[in-house]
Amino acid sequence: MRVSKLALVLALVFITGCANLRYYAEVPYVPSPPEVVDRMLELAEVKKDDIVYDIGSGDGRIVIRAAKKHGARGVGIEIDPELVERSRAKAKEERVEHRVEFRHQDALTVDLSPATVVTLYMFPEFNAKLRPLLRRLKPGSRVVSHDFDIEGWSPTTVERMDGGWLHRHTIYLWKIEGGDR
Ligand SMILES: C[S@@+](CC[C@H](N)C(=O)[O-])C[C@H]1O[C@@H](n2cnc3c(N)ncnc32)[C@H](O)[C@@H]1O
Repeated sequence: MRVSKLALVLALVFITGCANLRYYAEVPYVPSPPEVVDRMLELAEVKKDDIVYDIGSGDGRIVIRAAKKHGARGVGIEIDPELVERSRAKAKEERVEHRVEFRHQDALTVDLSPATVVTLYMFPEFNAKLRPLLRRLKPGSRVVSHDFDIEGWSPTTVERMDGGWLHRHTIYLWKIEGGDR
């Protein structure tokens, strides 16, 4: 009896995990939990004047939260068109559609010049490819990444967060000072 209950719990955990996991590109869709999103935005000190770009924006949660909680403007760049549609619908539901935009685009082709904050939850190999774009950010901009580092860049802050059963989240923050990378 005990074994069958355990099997049921494991099956549910597996099914729930799969529902959140879409493979569309080299980095799969795995959403950041809400508490991690909030901490990323706090560490980046997101304010009303900021323009937050989320690279690989998934269901849009980071950009939508930045607009709703901090009054910022935001742009989500996402390669999966279904997730772009979902983000636009959610932005309307949350009544922030006038402050946010979702683009169906390969993030490696994005122009980050308007951004003051860039958020990432992408693999280190992808972050490494983004470096030439991130290097052009204006002094005073912040880059904040969930779980994955940017090779060769020393973070300003690293914070760990407990996250349920299996996962301990890491949040990296870099403050761009200009001409130093
Ligand atoms: C780990 S998820 C992060 C989602 C969201 N940023 C969050 O933290 O909840 C990575 C996302 O990047 C998207 N992605 C992967 N490769 C991409 C690319 N080249 N350009 C834009 N988006 C990409 C995936 O479709 C996926 O939605």
